Amino acid sequence: MSATFDEVFALPDGRVLPIGPSAFVLPGFARLSMDDVLPTLSEIARRSPFRHMVTPGGDTMSVAMTNCGRLGWVTDRRGYRYTEDDPDTGAPWPAMPAALSQLARAAAAAAGFTAFEPDACLVNRYLPGNRLSLHQDRNERDFDSPIVSVSLGIPAVFLFGGHKRSDKPLRVPLMHGDVAVWGREDRLRFHGVMPLKENSHPLLGGQRINLTFRKAA
Ligand code: SIN
Ligand code: FE2
Repeated sequence: MSATFDEVFALPDGRVLPIGPSAFVLPGFARLSMDDVLPTLSEIARRSPFRHMVTPGGDTMSVAMTNCGRLGWVTDRRGYRYTEDDPDTGAPWPAMPAALSQLARAAAAAAGFTAFEPDACLVNRYLPGNRLSLHQDRNERDFDSPIVSVSLGIPAVFLFGGHKRSDKPLRVPLMHGDVAVWGREDRLRFHGVMPLKENSHPLLGGQRINLTFRKAA
């Protein structure tokens, strides 16, 4: 399989698609930022390599993760939390590059969330077959700021659920450059990612990278 014409060439057109009262998808919003964004991702991964973290229940996650920003999200047998240092390298997480924080702020503003100041960016790497089960983002100190989630590379189906794990989720296809933003009454909705299908993207090859920006502290 290879990417469709739209997956490669479609440019952002300013659309803001609601997926909830305070939740939106901005199709292609990040596409024009790739020249600035992609080099920063290689540098982050060089300094704090992708790794498969372990959940408190003892399962190794299929998605590989790293972080940038003052705080990074981690999980191990002791639980989920944010740390200032990368537990694998002992060094602080790489600083959040301006190209990334600017993209996150601009996407938040386009979705109606002004003055978003992310201090944490979780970088997820999905290969075909990898999935992320339904969860809430609730390790942040408060839930006043939105979540800004940038999809890069091969497509995925994002699951956007309700406030109960058992609520039937919306299935939202996310392609390269799409940005999802959710906050306010939607901030704690369950969400996840279906197992990825094999595909290939001209800039990122056979993988999907997701950047999740949050204000953690
Ligand atoms: C996440 O919930 O941390 C990631 C969601 C995604 O990969 O789209
Ligand atoms: Fe999440």
